Amino acid sequence: MPAPDHYFTADPTGRAVERRVRLRVDDRSVSLRSATGVFSAERVDPGTRVLLRTAPRPPGEGALLDLGCGYGPIACALALRSPRAEVWAVDVNARARELAAANAADLGLNGLHVAAPGEVPDDVRFAAIYSNPPVRVGKAALHDLLWQWRPRLQPAAAAHLVVARHLGSDSLQRWLEEQGWPTTRLGSERGYRVLRVQRAGEDA
Ligand SMILES: C[S@@+](CC[C@H](N)C(=O)[O-])C[C@H]1O[C@@H](n2cnc3c(N)ncnc32)[C@H](O)[C@@H]1O
Repeated sequence: MPAPDHYFTADPTGRAVERRVRLRVDDRSVSLRSATGVFSAERVDPGTRVLLRTAPRPPGEGALLDLGCGYGPIACALALRSPRAEVWAVDVNARARELAAANAADLGLNGLHVAAPGEVPDDVRFAAIYSNPPVRVGKAALHDLLWQWRPRLQPAAAAHLVVARHLGSDSLQRWLEEQGWPTTRLGSERGYRVLRVQRAGEDA
């Protein structure tokens, strides 16, 4: 199956048709802007919902990363749950970044920063990463992405990833362990696995 454009296009060219989707965060239901040209524009992705239900609550303080933020459902949930944290929402897709920034502004989430991958200051170290990663970019690109961001985790911190089983969650878990990164399956629901990947290794 060919990968949808939004995984590779930094600047989607088609007109942005704006949508609204609802995101449930604990006992709150919020409305988010999404649009054509970004991932899962019609509804909050089921994998994203599984991640938000299954992964541990974010640390209350420090920097948190939503890697591949799309229009920002994970980043907004992190910022709502940890209002004192500094949340970085990172994506290659410019339209996704605009939507994520608009959603943060609508919700008054002043600690949420939206950035292209190269815009996160080098000295930021994350207390946790939460991601519905872009698996459809292919294994090699996904592995490169994880190698790129792993050193940005604080030594005792972990990344929480949701990956569909049919898109290779189990082989990703094996690969993560082969890299020497202790990986636990936190849960499995509706065909999605939630993986907790600890930072470990000689430079940890
Ligand atoms: C599976 S989607 C998840 C989007 C959003 N977090 C959600 O839950 O709806 C993965 C996202 O990763 C982004 N992406 C692809 N390659 C990337 C890269 N190298 N760095 C950061 N983000 C990337 C895509 O543009 C896409 O928005």
